[in-house]
Amino acid sequence: MRKDVDINKAAQIIKQGGLVAFPTETVYGLGADATNAQAVARIFVEKERPSFDPLIVHIASMEQIHSLTTTNDNRVTELAKKFWPGPLTIVLPKSDLVPDVVTSGLPTVGIRMPDNEIALNLIEKSGKPIAAPSANKFGRISPTTANHVKKQLKDIDYILDGGPCKVGIESTVISLNPDGFVILREGFITFEDLEQVLPASKTKTSSAPLASPGLLKSHYSPEKPIYISDNHDFKSIRKILDSIEPTKKAAFISFTGIVHEGFSKTEFLSTKADLKEAAVNLFDILHRLEEDSNVDIIIAEPVPGDGIAKAIMDKLTKASFRYNN
Ligand code: TXA
Ligand code: MG
Repeated sequence: MRKDVDINKAAQIIKQGGLVAFPTETVYGLGADATNAQAVARIFVEKERPSFDPLIVHIASMEQIHSLTTTNDNRVTELAKKFWPGPLTIVLPKSDLVPDVVTSGLPTVGIRMPDNEIALNLIEKSGKPIAAPSANKFGRISPTTANHVKKQLKDIDYILDGGPCKVGIESTVISLNPDGFVILREGFITFEDLEQVLPASKTKTSSAPLASPGLLKSHYSPEKPIYISDNHDFKSIRKILDSIEPTKKAAFISFTGIVHEGFSKTEFLSTKADLKEAAVNLFDILHRLEEDSNVDIIIAEPVPGDGIAKAIMDKLTKASFRYNN
């Protein structure tokens, strides 16, 4: 089957104020012209997203950053040289061109240049910066294929199908301050990667409530209970299963390649604890298990460590939050 990738058509829809889902290297985005407040408002309706959660604006050239922000901080150029196009979002003071609906009334805007040909072409051909959150219903599993988008969003104007996303988890979101940077959302670019370009502030991750709504406790949830096993020991996993519902069919998400008896299914984030592989597979596995009628509950092996491991663990913890609290 041929993939649906008519970029001219998609660009036309963006120009006219419509909604287009498009691939990026991280996850699929649900895009609208970032300078058109009405078009952006439709994103919030379609996603059922609360209006307090601001959107990332996607650009294809450094000129666009000058029209969207008032910054002349040359650390932005340094970061862009090293990480763009790529999975880093930088929160900067916004210009008047950016409507308040994009930033949920904040004086700042998150900007990133995605590392995906289709996304960059779409931005160039439409001639517009594109505001886009991940193309899923609010709080649900993020999409890494066009089919994942179709499953959740029925009423959008077009989906550009670029195949599976090559990174698989969302961008790292940072803000800058006089001392350095603060990570507002963990992602594929790690603290250590960033430290090579900028000295970090004393706080590694923001603890201020809602400095970024990406810090919400519950997110990325499948429509089935999911739990993280507290260690790699089979007995403890069995105990979790029995204590929950002994008759229910459970799937196991393995990170190290370990397999346990007593599960109706095992999915592998990785077979050898490879973090990049795990990032690529994470959301697809959650989507598959959500759809699988032979699975009632999901148990995930923990993913220990820093960097990408932290980002993956953050997503698993948020996915399981509503079932554990
Ligand atoms: O990889 C990604 O970042 C994907 C692709 C589509 O680019 N987009 C994405 O968007 O994950 P979304 O809306 O699901 O998450 C955006 C995150 C939210 O946690 C939001 O709170 C934070 O970025 N954010 C956006 N603008 C912000 C701002 N001005 N200040 C603080 N946080 C902001
Ligand atoms: Mg999202």
